[in-house]
Amino acid sequence: MTNLPNIKPDCFHPVDADALFPASRSSHKPRILLLYGSLRERSFSRFAAEEAARILNTFGAETRFFDPHGLPMVDESPADHPKVAELRDLVGWCEGMVWSSPERHGAMSGVMKSQIDWIPLSLGGVRPTQGKTLAVMQVCGGSQSFNTVNQLRILGRWMRLLTIPNQSSVAKAWDEFDAEGRMKPSAYYDRIVDVMEELVRFTLLTRDIRDHLVDRYSERVESHEALSKRVNQAKAV
Ligand SMILES: Cc1cc2nc3c(=O)[nH]c(=O)nc-3n(C[C@H](O)[C@H](O)[C@H](O)COP(=O)(O)O)c2cc1C
Repeated sequence: MTNLPNIKPDCFHPVDADALFPASRSSHKPRILLLYGSLRERSFSRFAAEEAARILNTFGAETRFFDPHGLPMVDESPADHPKVAELRDLVGWCEGMVWSSPERHGAMSGVMKSQIDWIPLSLGGVRPTQGKTLAVMQVCGGSQSFNTVNQLRILGRWMRLLTIPNQSSVAKAWDEFDAEGRMKPSAYYDRIVDVMEELVRFTLLTRDIRDHLVDRYSERVESHEALSKRVNQAKAV
């Protein structure tokens, strides 16, 4: 460490390749939570998420949905509101997520953002999203846009999620679903299959090592300093 004088040696560990390849791994189905950003009865972002869930189930995942109806605006109710508690429980349960939002005025919908804003970065010392996987999807009323998936990626980074490279953007969504809400065959449908295939792979690859993957030097320094302070205070009394 002679050429890195700013490094705190107690907190600096060489990258441990063995920790990245655990000897045993979980065998349960990958748990995927799907969120959608619309309350409309005939919502194409929900239909797209439902189509994604069918594909995920076929790939061997276990899927759950959160229904955003009745979720209060952020800070309108305390966090023990039953819909907030339901959302947070589902986020705790999952190992990966799908976020499917409409594009509205060139941005994700408020319904989508509200759900994400109710998910805390840290909850009772646990970081419920950190190191979990994320796939982002959007539906457009007009021609294909990537504004919303790009914004969702920024939120994914903020929540310390591992957002997979592939993504879905369905243009003219009103023309892509039948009367029952099933997606018609198209390149957009095939793309959703690709995205879900990738999501399952990345979830299987990372779920057993997620704490290790996102363990940060700067946070080890912070907790080391906090611990030293506490110990020194205890000695002083
Ligand atoms: C207020 C409003 C703004 C919209 N802005 C856009 C937009 O910027 N780009 C776009 O492609 N579609 C836009 N749309 C169309 C929606 O994306 C489209 O209706 C979509 O299907 C809505 O999602 P949902 O079916 O899940 O409710 C807008 C629709 C509304 C009502």
